[in-house]
Amino acid sequence: MRTLALVTGASRGLGRNTALAIARGGGDVVVTYRGSADEATAVVADIEALGRRAVALQLDTGEVDAFPVFVTRLRTALRDTWQRETFDHLVNNAGHGDTAPIADTTVAQFDRLVDVHFKGVFFLTQALLPLIADGGRIFNISTGLTRFAYPGYAAYAAAKAAVETLSVYMAKEFGARGIAVNTVAPGAIETDFGGGVVRDNADVNAQLAGITALGRVGVADDIGPMIAALLGEANRWVNAQRIEVSGGQAI
Ligand SMILES: NC(=O)c1ccc[n+]([C@@H]2O[C@H](COP(=O)([O-])OP(=O)(O)OC[C@H]3O[C@@H](n4cnc5c(N)ncnc54)[C@H](OP(=O)(O)O)[C@@H]3O)[C@@H](O)[C@H]2O)c1
Repeated sequence: MRTLALVTGASRGLGRNTALAIARGGGDVVVTYRGSADEATAVVADIEALGRRAVALQLDTGEVDAFPVFVTRLRTALRDTWQRETFDHLVNNAGHGDTAPIADTTVAQFDRLVDVHFKGVFFLTQALLPLIADGGRIFNISTGLTRFAYPGYAAYAAAKAAVETLSVYMAKEFGARGIAVNTVAPGAIETDFGGGVVRDNADVNAQLAGITALGRVGVADDIGPMIAALLGEANRWVNAQRIEVSGGQAI
């Protein structure tokens, strides 16, 4: 695998799993985290134990004003660790869950969801574009909740839907540089997301398993290796697609 990937929100959950899957496939990874410095350091150690290189950088993807400083720190890390000016692949994964009925959603909840899940993806990708190598790939993480609806996820899912549209426009505009852009839309996965509800609430877990064709909810290992595989040469012609990875949830 040709590759140096940057995975946002890779200290835990799907981002961590994706970073490790990329490393197992022979890639190096820039791992970003918001607050979990120790977990991010552990991911770097795990990648190094696989014989690959990694660095961890702090980044709140909802704080666009911090992006110029992040880009400067990233440039330094690329030069110091890889003697490169660019990286190959960007996985816009970072994000939090926050649920509320539309009637009760506050402006602060809404703004934070949109800042992290849409505005941040837009402007982080814009800021990183000069650092992404021609021929690289971008994956934006969405959710199955853009296809099927659960009460409480309106603002979150609408922000993800915006990213799905954005991904198609990115594919259109970046194609001249050979950069493919796709959306990966996981179904319900057992992680810390949303307070760990899918993993820790047995009733929710069973209900979701019951409406999933393959008969269970997802685990992180259902997602990371799939994204790593999409970075491979065999998938070079996949572009501008929404790829749902849900085991057949709500079909
Ligand atoms: N789990 C699911 O059921 C599911 C389903 C569909 C889509 N998704 C999406 O998949 C992505 C990853 O979710 P997950 O399940 O892996 O969640 P998770 O286990 O809670 O991990 C979230 C990761 O994102 C980071 N993060 C959260 N908010 C951030 C911010 N504002 N800026 C920078 N980093 C931030 C966290 O960093 P810290 O550790 O430093 O806090 C952590 O590394 C999200 O975009 C989520 O919307 C999840």
